[in-house]
Amino acid sequence: MNSKKQVVEALAKVLPAEITADQINKLIEKPKTSDLGDYAFPTFILAKTMHKAPNMIAEELVGKMDQAGFEKIVNTGAYINFFLDKAAFSDAILKEVLKEQDDYGNQNEGNGGNVPIDMSSPNIAKPMSMGHLRSTVIGNSIAKILTKLGYSPIKINHLGDWGTQFGKLIVGYKMWGSKEEVEEDPINNLLKYYVRFHKEAEDKPELDDEARAWFKKMEDGDKEALSLWTWFRSLSLSEFQKIYTRLGVEFDSFNGEAFYNDKMDAVIDTLEEKNLLKESQGAEIVDLSDLDLSPALIKKTDGATLYITRDLAAAIYRKNTYKFVKSLYVVGSEQAEHFKKLKAVLKMMGYDWADDIHHIEFGLITNGGKKLSTRKGRVILLENVLNDAVDLAKKQIEEKNPDLKDKDQVAESVGVGAVVFHDLKNERRDSFDFNLEEVVRFEGETGPYVQYTNARALSILRKAGDVDFDGDLTLDDPEAWDTLKLIQEFPDILSRAGRIYEPSVIAKYALKLAKSFNQYYAHSKILTDDAGRVARLSLVKSVTIVLQISLGLLGVKAPEEM
Ligand code: ARG
Repeated sequence: MNSKKQVVEALAKVLPAEITADQINKLIEKPKTSDLGDYAFPTFILAKTMHKAPNMIAEELVGKMDQAGFEKIVNTGAYINFFLDKAAFSDAILKEVLKEQDDYGNQNEGNGGNVPIDMSSPNIAKPMSMGHLRSTVIGNSIAKILTKLGYSPIKINHLGDWGTQFGKLIVGYKMWGSKEEVEEDPINNLLKYYVRFHKEAEDKPELDDEARAWFKKMEDGDKEALSLWTWFRSLSLSEFQKIYTRLGVEFDSFNGEAFYNDKMDAVIDTLEEKNLLKESQGAEIVDLSDLDLSPALIKKTDGATLYITRDLAAAIYRKNTYKFVKSLYVVGSEQAEHFKKLKAVLKMMGYDWADDIHHIEFGLITNGGKKLSTRKGRVILLENVLNDAVDLAKKQIEEKNPDLKDKDQVAESVGVGAVVFHDLKNERRDSFDFNLEEVVRFEGETGPYVQYTNARALSILRKAGDVDFDGDLTLDDPEAWDTLKLIQEFPDILSRAGRIYEPSVIAKYALKLAKSFNQYYAHSKILTDDAGRVARLSLVKSVTIVLQISLGLLGVKAPEEM
């Protein structure tokens, strides 16, 4: 049952036939306050066709409508207000959720279509930054949301494992590093050489020439250069893997930039064939001035290829390999121009599917309002953030529930979950400051609050013992109404989150549902042994199902006790 559909049907029977169900559906509003009903229909647009004042039309239509299935239908001015029949509504929605369980809200909009999601994509030999965390968790959540909508996402970690920075790293390592030191703490020490390289190169520009030469060697297949590169890459990857394991994120592919080394000639050939390449100061570019974009730099003076060249090859490879219905790139807003250029060049090459490429941009995580930068060494190390969050979670658990079993494991789920939830509750384009104390609170707009609400609801169910949910699930407590309606809205929320690639829609929804349930819990005696007990418990059960689905879609765990 979909109550909005019920409203559409009731209206369709009395409205002029030329107004389609789809149009009616779009016109229906949700009143701000419950005294105006659950849904409202404005009659203004009918004034012309029906040659009457809107409030007259509303009154007339209400007179004609069949009230069956509704508590009442009335008119207020130009609006028709629909009040759903609470008993029938509750019975239908609770039965549906209990029947569907984890599948509640599933839709088949995607029809199995492939959607590569370029996500996380950190740079080898550098720590994973908070920006990469954003890409990882946003991408992971979008993948889960799209799966529930019937798509087949392919999670691709487009590792930054190629480029001139590796030339710098090799120079730095050879000058100041040692095998032992690198093996002891790979990423931090590699970063150390990199930072030192930049500092020293300020006064010694010849270092930059050396770095360029080493990168050129890599591109030409030099043995020493490549074996150092392979070593850096695999050490870095196993460090990253630790974080992915903690976040519970898996990838379908680790084809990074280097994977496209042998696929770029074909791109350059096509660009040449189509007469798109131009020479500019010895470099090869695609001129995009007609589109008000700076030129796409395809090949440098020394023949080295660039970031966008590899992205062109990657885009084409993904289209050929996955026959995607859309292709997503979860990358910070600062690369908006890059993705505009990428799409523009693909379009010029004659690939109309470039329109199916979407840059899923996101804002920065700042530190005291300042941008974080690896080059200047001003980074928040993701691992430290996670560790601190887990420690804080542990402290609060010790206070609240000292006898809890598996305290460490729960603290891990709560601490890591808090960081992830905080990231996802912000609209992705917004930048936000990161304050750990705030993020790990058990009250307020936090992940732990949602987890805690779910755990509390589960404990009510444990107290209730065995309950037989077959039978009448009519629930007309006015306190339950808000929660029931939120549960019923979930499928719409899900499809909206997918349409705009916005996990925050789910996070905000989970907070709302948790809050509404806590209000219900405060006002009603759920476990009292009377006729309404089973229905009330079925609401509690449904809340846990929907909260767990929501947390799951965000990649946040839902501990049973905390
Ligand atoms: N490695 C890049 C960075 O850290 C992000 C790569 C994004 N993906 C892509 N296909 N360009 O900035």
